[in-house]
Amino acid sequence: MSSNDLRAKFLEFFRSKGHTIVPSSPLVPGNDPTLLFTNAGMVQFKDVFTGQEKRPYTRAASSQKCVRAGGKHNDLENVGYTARHHTFFEMLGNFSFGDYFKQDAIAYAWEFITSQDWLGIDKNRLLVTVYHDDDEAYSIWRDTVGVPAERIVRIGDNKGAKYASDNFWAMGDTGPCGPCTEIFYDHDPDGSKGIWGGPPGSAEEDGDRWIEIWNVVFMQFERGSDGTMAPLPAPSVDTGMGLERIAALLQGYNDNYRTDTFAHLIGAVAKLAGQAPYANASQKVIADHIRATSFLISDGVMPSNEGRGYVLRRIMRRAIRHGYKLGLNDAFFYKLVAPLAEIMGGAYPELNEKRALIEKTIRAEEDSFAITLDKGMKLLEDAIARLQDKTIPGDVVFKLYDTYGFPFDLTADIARERGLSLDEAGYEREMGAQRERARAASSFKTAGTLAYEGADTCFVGYESLSGDGKVLALYRDGQAVDALSAGDAGVVVLSNTPFYAESGGQVGDRGTIGGFDVQDTLKLKGSVFGHHGVQTQGTLKIGDTVHAVVTESIRRATMRNHSATHLLHRALRDVLGTHVAQKGSLVDEQRTRFDFAHNAPLTADEIAEIEDRVNRAVLANVPVSTDLMSYDEAIKAGAMALFGEKYGDEVRVLAMGEFSTELCGGTHVSRTGDIGLFKIISEGGVAAGVRRIEAITGENALAYLRATENKLKKVGELVRGGADEVYAKVEQLLERGKQLDKEIAALKNKLASSAGTDLASQAQDIKGVKLLAARLDGMAGNDLRTLMDQLKNKLGSGIVLLGSASDGKVSLIAGVTADLTAKVKAGELVNFVAQQVGGKGGGRPDMAQAGGTQPDALPAAIASVAGWIEAKL
Ligand code: ALA
Repeated sequence: MSSNDLRAKFLEFFRSKGHTIVPSSPLVPGNDPTLLFTNAGMVQFKDVFTGQEKRPYTRAASSQKCVRAGGKHNDLENVGYTARHHTFFEMLGNFSFGDYFKQDAIAYAWEFITSQDWLGIDKNRLLVTVYHDDDEAYSIWRDTVGVPAERIVRIGDNKGAKYASDNFWAMGDTGPCGPCTEIFYDHDPDGSKGIWGGPPGSAEEDGDRWIEIWNVVFMQFERGSDGTMAPLPAPSVDTGMGLERIAALLQGYNDNYRTDTFAHLIGAVAKLAGQAPYANASQKVIADHIRATSFLISDGVMPSNEGRGYVLRRIMRRAIRHGYKLGLNDAFFYKLVAPLAEIMGGAYPELNEKRALIEKTIRAEEDSFAITLDKGMKLLEDAIARLQDKTIPGDVVFKLYDTYGFPFDLTADIARERGLSLDEAGYEREMGAQRERARAASSFKTAGTLAYEGADTCFVGYESLSGDGKVLALYRDGQAVDALSAGDAGVVVLSNTPFYAESGGQVGDRGTIGGFDVQDTLKLKGSVFGHHGVQTQGTLKIGDTVHAVVTESIRRATMRNHSATHLLHRALRDVLGTHVAQKGSLVDEQRTRFDFAHNAPLTADEIAEIEDRVNRAVLANVPVSTDLMSYDEAIKAGAMALFGEKYGDEVRVLAMGEFSTELCGGTHVSRTGDIGLFKIISEGGVAAGVRRIEAITGENALAYLRATENKLKKVGELVRGGADEVYAKVEQLLERGKQLDKEIAALKNKLASSAGTDLASQAQDIKGVKLLAARLDGMAGNDLRTLMDQLKNKLGSGIVLLGSASDGKVSLIAGVTADLTAKVKAGELVNFVAQQVGGKGGGRPDMAQAGGTQPDALPAAIASVAGWIEAKL
């Protein structure tokens, strides 16, 4: 029975028993902050169980999308290594809200599973569990259903506390809960399949033989956050049956990944990787993760660095990394959305409706992670190669996280594959230190939370960069204080200040107020400026009159960039069109960063034209004037007002001759000529329909040009050509490189062929079979494969194993001619050798490759081949 048929049959059965079929709710639970993801069918009914919500029905059934990755029920790390763990799965369930209870719930479950009209599963292979003191459930099973007593197991509080039991189900730390009864299926009653495991409650219960297929929960309590168990308004029923497990059972498998749905997905993964389906665990991981990823995105989760988005990102990155392991170095994961929609889109139309969004989101994550994945893997491989013991140090795990975007569990996943562990405590220490740094950095940014009732600040910074003011308020650790002494970090409010407070995209000024070092200036509220920084010497007291000095070089550079921003804005509108609306800007002493609405990358010509226009306005050297007028007057005068800015009745209009008129409260140069050279240094997209330009001015532009010139000079020195000749010289070199590559390839071929002849003659005879096991350093990948083909041809019939070491890595290849593959498989041979050199491998019976990390062990490993082959023949 296909998974799709099974789902339909389940719902049909309960429809016939008077249940309302309710569609799956989204994976993001509505209004439930206690839960990361919907992790069971009952989640959407939580409030119905507790009586807070009424529905027009008292019986319901559903097939619910579930994710168990993160939170109380988290299966992420097991996915790929076991037969039954998934991040995403479907839970079939029936529910009674104060309607039927234990008797009917048990009877329905039994009928659906065993009746020939429904699933027709053999009763003799079933066993049930009940909560240890649930005599009612016990006697229903024994006396009403007729399950023999030896097939009913009572399970107590086996998890270390009252109600902590496999047979007491709770949604989370709080919420509806109750005792449950579970139905188990025996996958190997006569032991003929050799599946290990024992019945629930036995020491072997974790094996794969006895598998829980249905959990029937008798909802009776609501657990409060203080642990109290309040009775629900009415006893209810919540059941859950994993669709994947039942499908496996009905399709004759012990492994969920063999079911039709997964076979379809794994087939697609294998095809992309150019492998046989089920060749490795990574295929399973990817097949599982494309389901969780696609369903989460279709339910509105986007990859990010926190909360649900981070769980999604971890799942995606884990899949991408497993793809990388399979040699899928280019974006591939998004290509699996189509096969998923094929197999599951019928039951879940959102997969088709949102397909473009899902693919785009995955693609973007793949592209961004690709940049660091490779680098991170190299860092990790290096660290592993240097390991003295079997634990990857915490600082490496942290660096992978912090710099390369490897979530902790991704590194753990890799470690597990290599039989290594992680120094989790060390990693946590590094994380803690980073949080501390972030906290210290953000302690300056507490503006807006400080209590202040005094006068507004009078800003004198349009006209001058220094001036006297009176200290009106002081803060330390967010609290008002009377004085700051040396070493205190804090915030100062003055009556008058030349310091510009961050606004309109322009950063706050830096400088000094007596012995107070101002590191940023932010608005406390309205027109009250807070100077954030550290008292470096002496003491600052309320009432002191102090001399405030803005660091001139920083402010002047910032002003150049701000004025240039206005000219840039205008030039963009002139060159690209008036649809160019400002979407955000950041102006500091380094650069101006300007975001604007436009839906195509700018061409080189457009960029040059924009630069030219701005620089013409600079050279015109017109005065920059400011006028205060009413908002309406300003708009009438043609001033550009900016998005999202709030303007008062009186506005400041900033004009640069004919070149620009904008409303702006920022600080600006006196004449456009002060800006100096204007240069765009980058252009790119930041969101759909939004582009970003970064540009520099004044001394920064000069430094940039000088650095560029220097680079060119250095390249010139390398290729022995002046700036004018560099291009031609490099072109020549590249051409020459191509020719050399060709020559090398031809020579290698020749070499391999003569090495092949030499090598072939070294073959030894083992029980009449030719065996060649040899070491050939400096060859890898393709070269080894070419050589292998030649050797097999030369030998006609025989077995070949070649090992090669370079850069601390071992490459292995095994080949077996077709007539011998019945006795010896290349995959097994290469694996046998790989294990001795710290690797793992496998492949086809006639040709297989592997790698290793211990070149020193290679000679002995090669020597061991003859004995191994002899034993096989
Ligand atoms: N809510 C129960 C479970 O998830 C049925 O197992």
